[in-house]
This record gives sequence, C-alpha cells and structure tokens, in this order.
Amino acid sequence: MKTYDKFLDYYDEIVRWMNSSLEDEIEFLEFDAIKNYAPETKNILETACGTWVVAKELIKLWYNYTWLDINPKMLEKAEKNLKNLEKKLVLWDMTNFNFKNKFDLVLCNYNSICHLLSWESWQNFFKNSFENLKKWWLLVFDINTIFEFENITRDFAQFYNFWENTVCLEMFKKWNIYQWLIKIFEKQENWNYNLTEEKVEEISFPISKIKKELLSQGFEMLEIIDYHFWKVTTESERVYFICKKI
Ligand SMILES: C[S@@+](CC[C@H](N)C(=O)[O-])C[C@H]1O[C@@H](n2cnc3c(N)ncnc32)[C@H](O)[C@@H]1O
Repeated sequence: MKTYDKFLDYYDEIVRWMNSSLEDEIEFLEFDAIKNYAPETKNILETACGTWVVAKELIKLWYNYTWLDINPKMLEKAEKNLKNLEKKLVLWDMTNFNFKNKFDLVLCNYNSICHLLSWESWQNFFKNSFENLKKWWLLVFDINTIFEFENITRDFAQFYNFWENTVCLEMFKKWNIYQWLIKIFEKQENWNYNLTEEKVEEISFPISKIKKELLSQGFEMLEIIDYHFWKVTTESERVYFICKKI
C-alpha cells in the first residue's frame, strides 16, 4: 500500500479547500510568525513542502524559497503548479539535510513533522534545522496533538465526493502510531469503480517533551500557540512552535 501517491490528486482540495482555510494559514505564517518575530526574513526553506500550496502564496510576498520533500510525486506536482516561478525543489529527507547556504527561516507546515514516526527522527529534524539556520533566526513548525489524533480515531469515517469519484478517510491507532487508511473509489467507463488504498502514518508527542528537546538543542522558545484558539490547553488540536536559534 502506498503513501500519498494517489491521494495527492485530491490532497489540496480536501485539506485546503474543505478542511482548513489556506488564506488563514498564510495570514498566520506571514503576520503572527514571520513579521512578528523576524520581519527581515528573506530566505525560507520549507521542509516536507508537499504540492506547493503554501510556498506559492509566500513566494508572492518577496521571499526566496527552497523546498524539500521526500516524495518525488509531490515535487513533480509542485513543479507543474509553480509554472514560471523560480524553482528550488529538492528531493531530500527532512531528518537528514544539509544546504551550503543557511536560511533565515526553516518551516515545516501542516503536521508534516508528525510523519516522522520515531522520537529519534524528530530529534534529527530539530538538529538539521538548527544546523541549516543562521544564528538568531527561526524554526516554525506545527503538530497535530495527541488529543487531536485520539479524537479523529474515535470519529466516523470522512467521505469527500468529487463528481463521480469518492475519497474515504479513516484513522486507526496501532500502538502509538495513528494510521490514516485512505480509500479512493474512481468510476470506470464500464460503470465499475476502481479502488485504490493508501496508508499515511503519523505520530505525536507531548508538547512539554518537544519544548524540552528544542531548548536542549539550543533553541529559544518564542511562542507555542494553539492555531485555533491561541492559548494552548489540554484540548488544543493543532499547535505551532516558533523557536529561535541562539
Ligand atoms: C501533510 S503533508 C504536508 C505538506 C505541506 N507542508 C502542506 O502544508 O501542505 C506531509 C508531507 O510530508 C512529506 N514527508 C513525509 N516524511 C518526510 C520526510 N522524512 N522528509 C521530507 N518530507 C517528508 C510528505 O511527502 C508530504 O508531502
């Protein structure tokens, strides 16, 4: 079973146009994170960039942009969608990257870090981000909390219709891993449906553990924010970390 290869045909519409407003997300990144804490930011590295959506908006706002993702199909789609914009897309693992030029901002958006399934890989991501940042500049990333994953696991399956095709998303828990089972039903000419199944696995860790690790790796914690309600509580679903390399 594959990961994101087929789902990415539907990913942007489900994630950005149906579940979460891209406009709100860009406003948050632009004003609450970047302008608030590092208004001089120019060179951004977006890790686990996916298909382009965030990059395409931020790049319009005068930033120099470099992307990396581990999935070549994501990068292919990003490349097509970015058309004439300058492209610096790199196929690389976010637990092990090293650029010659250092960045003003390392961004890892939309719970991408939760795709790293061991604590050691989270530690490696922080270490790589630290090494690829200029001193005094920012790492910004968000997580889905354990509370959020537990809620989704208890929820009914989600169905999304695209003309005659349907995408069904369900989450299951296996030990401490949360597993999306994605079923895509696509109508064929003979009125049969073709079913493709994909699996995306995610994990999360307590906010206090993440904060402690970041501090021990040499970051200063500027802010930990609940994306929806600002103040972080035990019921926060999506939480952003804004940290400075010191
Ligand atoms: C939920 S998507 C988010 C994409 C994008 N950041 C956004 O805001 O839409 C997660 C992305 O993480 C990428 N990914 C997963 N593991 C990775 C790794 N080890 N290194 C780099 N990218 C990874 C996937 O290929 C996918 O594009």
